[in-house]
Amino acid sequence: MLDHDEILQAIETIEPLSPTVTRLAELVADPETDMDAVVACVSHDPGMTLGLLRRANSAQYGGRGQVGDVRSAVVRLGFGVVLEAAVRVGSRNVLDRSIPQYGFSERQFWRHCCAAAHAAEALRRSAGVPIAAVVATAALLHDIGKLAIAQHISERQEELLESAHALVGIMTAERDLFGLDHAEVGGLMAKRWRLPETIVQAITFHHDPGLVTDPITDVVHVADQIALMVCSDPDSGWQMTVETGSLERLGIDADDLGSLAEVSRGLLELTETRPS
Ligand SMILES: [Fe+2]
Ligand SMILES: [Fe+2]
Repeated sequence: MLDHDEILQAIETIEPLSPTVTRLAELVADPETDMDAVVACVSHDPGMTLGLLRRANSAQYGGRGQVGDVRSAVVRLGFGVVLEAAVRVGSRNVLDRSIPQYGFSERQFWRHCCAAAHAAEALRRSAGVPIAAVVATAALLHDIGKLAIAQHISERQEELLESAHALVGIMTAERDLFGLDHAEVGGLMAKRWRLPETIVQAITFHHDPGLVTDPITDVVHVADQIALMVCSDPDSGWQMTVETGSLERLGIDADDLGSLAEVSRGLLELTETRPS
């Protein structure tokens, strides 16, 4: 079995988020934060500024004319999308890679993460309860634990993981083989990256949302299932496995999941046609 220290070592080898992204996450998680603080934080970072302007002028958001400054981009996107865009720019090196140990070939993992972020934003807008703006970022990063585990396991463990996954599901397979699962490892990574506790919690419990009382965790759980649907082969007959408790707590009807998946698929296609 992998022990806790080995996992922490694996986490250490993964490139952290920049201090500016971490600071922005703190600001967005704080309901008292005002526009000036967010604009000042983004303006410090040329890469983040560029990513934000691109997103604000993208096919998804640019229909209302071009914006050329950070403040207008923040107004157009809202704090939640600003943070998600910044994390996307800052974590692409980490997330945009194949993880064959989990069946993700080139680009597939990145697509899954982005589809989940889009689904989370769509759910946030449709939910019957208020959802904090950090939710899209929590969804973008929900499976980061897979990266650390994949770097650490042997070929033999990889084979065992694949066969056990088919039999008992990924979480049980990981716990049986490694003593912990990718959600727990992802939570440890988010903590190390100094992300707000609400993001840490959503990553840690995205497969067990009933264990906490937190609408962000519920959204990330549902968004993950929508993303799996969006990225699955349409002929595979793949079905979502969503906890009904999460839907009830969010005030989302199960019949609306199909249309939310369509929204997520459309946004994924839009952001793939232009860099974001
Ligand atoms: Fe997961
Ligand atoms: Fe996932």
